[in-house]
Amino acid sequence: VTKAIAPSKIILSGEHFVVEGEPALVAAIDIYAKCIAEERFDESIRIESKDYFGKIHVIKYSKNKIIDYAGDKNTKRILRPVLISVLKTLEYSEQKKGLDIYINSEIPPSAGLGSSAAVAVATSAAVIGEIKGNINKEIIWKAAFEAERAVHKNPSGIDVTISTFGGLILYKKGEKPNFIKLDYKPIFIVGLIGKRAKTGKLVEKVLKLKKEFPSIINPLYISAGNLTIKLVEALKNKDLKTAGLLMNINHRLLSAIGVSTPKLDMIVNTAIKKGAYGAKLTGAGGGGSIIALVDESKLEKVKSSLEKKIKKVYVSSIVEEGVKIV
Ligand code: PMV
Repeated sequence: VTKAIAPSKIILSGEHFVVEGEPALVAAIDIYAKCIAEERFDESIRIESKDYFGKIHVIKYSKNKIIDYAGDKNTKRILRPVLISVLKTLEYSEQKKGLDIYINSEIPPSAGLGSSAAVAVATSAAVIGEIKGNINKEIIWKAAFEAERAVHKNPSGIDVTISTFGGLILYKKGEKPNFIKLDYKPIFIVGLIGKRAKTGKLVEKVLKLKKEFPSIINPLYISAGNLTIKLVEALKNKDLKTAGLLMNINHRLLSAIGVSTPKLDMIVNTAIKKGAYGAKLTGAGGGGSIIALVDESKLEKVKSSLEKKIKKVYVSSIVEEGVKIV
């Protein structure tokens, strides 16, 4: 039996813009997807998943077919990417094995925190750990990326990359991750706003706008790319005032491309008013989550004011490790 855990993520700047090649800055945080894999005596794959709300979903895959399932009408849709992650991991490791897979995720789904990617990454790691005895991050990345593609057609790969490798990454689509080292731990508040549209839908909406008004929208992409580079500099220099200001500007760029909502704007403004260095929506938007960069002295004040307005508030910093066997 092998157990793996993979971290979720917050995007500090550049979501959406990253899909079209601009750099984005992303950090792993300590909310995890967990997966246990155990070899079976036959060649079937059984996947059992307990979601964030405690609901159990089950599918069994045998002879190229999903032959039975328990849960609800969404079970197949929810577990199909997990199955892809398992099958691709077996294919890339050149193994044919039956497996029992148990998933337990602490990460709220559709919240902009990369839950689907973290589940796919943890699954691939547990499978490869179980059949080979150690993990191979290249295979994990490739298998989880295929799973992500089943969820939304045009992923930048940012979620899979951060969940696999951890830390703080300056990410550009199609390039090797550029790890950024900080000699201190910035504090982030993550606020869960609520349910939202699927990432794929939001990505499509933005790309459509870009296609319709290139002369207006393209400069925003360049602006966001420049902003990400400046944000890396500010964080490296521990200039958190500038970093916060840049996050605020990033939020407005995301608002300009149509992925903010009145509630996201309201919560971002509350965080700033209560003393955060800066705040923005994180992930695909349209609901989901916000992040705020705060000083320790302001942490309680910002946190308690957000708790009055939204469901769930986390405090986190960057976790250095990506997926691992535990
Ligand atoms: O799925 P989310 O909400 O974690 O967002 C992913 C980030 C996007 O830039 C919106 C999409 C992508 O593939 O990069």
